[in-house]
Amino acid sequence: MEILGKSPAIKKVLSLIAKVAPRDSTVLILGESGTGKELVARAIHARSRRRKGPFVPVNCGAIPEELLESELFGYERGAFTGASRSKPGRFELAHGGTLFLDEVSEMSPKLQVKLLRVLQERVVERLGSEEPRPVDLRIIAATNRDLEKEVAEGRFREDLYFRLNVIPLRLPPLRERREDIPLLAEHFLKKFCEREEVPLKRLSPEALECLKNYSWPGNVRELENLMERLVVLVEEDLIQEEDLPEHLRGLSRPPGLITVDIPPQGLDLRRTLLEIEKAFILKALELSGGVRTQAAKLLGLKRTTLVEKMKRLGLE
Ligand SMILES: Nc1ncnc2c1ncn2[C@@H]1O[C@H](COP(=O)(O)OP(=O)(O)OP(=O)(O)O)[C@@H](O)[C@H]1O
Ligand SMILES: [Mg+2]
Repeated sequence: MEILGKSPAIKKVLSLIAKVAPRDSTVLILGESGTGKELVARAIHARSRRRKGPFVPVNCGAIPEELLESELFGYERGAFTGASRSKPGRFELAHGGTLFLDEVSEMSPKLQVKLLRVLQERVVERLGSEEPRPVDLRIIAATNRDLEKEVAEGRFREDLYFRLNVIPLRLPPLRERREDIPLLAEHFLKKFCEREEVPLKRLSPEALECLKNYSWPGNVRELENLMERLVVLVEEDLIQEEDLPEHLRGLSRPPGLITVDIPPQGLDLRRTLLEIEKAFILKALELSGGVRTQAAKLLGLKRTTLVEKMKRLGLE
């Protein structure tokens, strides 16, 4: 999987990846959901000295605490009821490779202490055993939370934060690199059209404009899902603005611009502007029940300015 993008923001990320991948340092990937944290973690592993070793992902937010502990550390037979045979944990499984700790902020205080110990001593003990087993692995952690805030508010250990935050890698949200939207949209359209074996679809200029102006709270994942949905639902080869979900439609026109027309005989601009001003003031007074302070607020004016204008327009 390739990391696509031509924005300065993503280029910075790519050059940082190239720099840190061959080193053995711990990397902390920070970014909103769907910004590509796992993709980047895999890319770092694939370009590292450990690329022939395993890449072992663990989602610390998706597994309940007790289970997460035994998943990470493994256990010996008889360590707890149900442990009928011994099992290596993910730390051991990642030996020689990379362990990807996703949503690391969700770890319980107890596990944070245990993780810190592994990072410091590079050994793990399976549950029910005191035998330290050396592990040779690289840690890449990721979070969509503000870890500094988690530390400040006492939910995340500061010493662990410093251990993990050796090389921070911040992934910009999609709305901060809108230049990448057309490229990514096209890439996902192609991917899903090929998968579904349908002729390649294109986006109309207006549809693309909507995508470029949308805020993408779910980032690249949201864009990817939308492209899949369009490939499945739109029958024509050209995807139009009307085919987009409602919250994206209408974004192709810049906000707040009034469409105007000029009659064949022309118009008196000064008088027209006064009429428009008058109409808006009357509307604001109506909406505020005649309360001028409130009407002024609706129009983004000071109360004195509104009163002045009303006098000038003969509205008093
Ligand atoms: N720059 C990119 N180029 C191509 N594909 C990308 C890019 N960024 C993200 N993707 C794709 O977007 C999807 C989401 O990426 P990924 O799962 O890595 O994000 P994440 O930050 O881990 O998300 P979450 O917080 O939801 O777990 C994946 O299918 C990934 O391949
Ligand atoms: Mg992820």
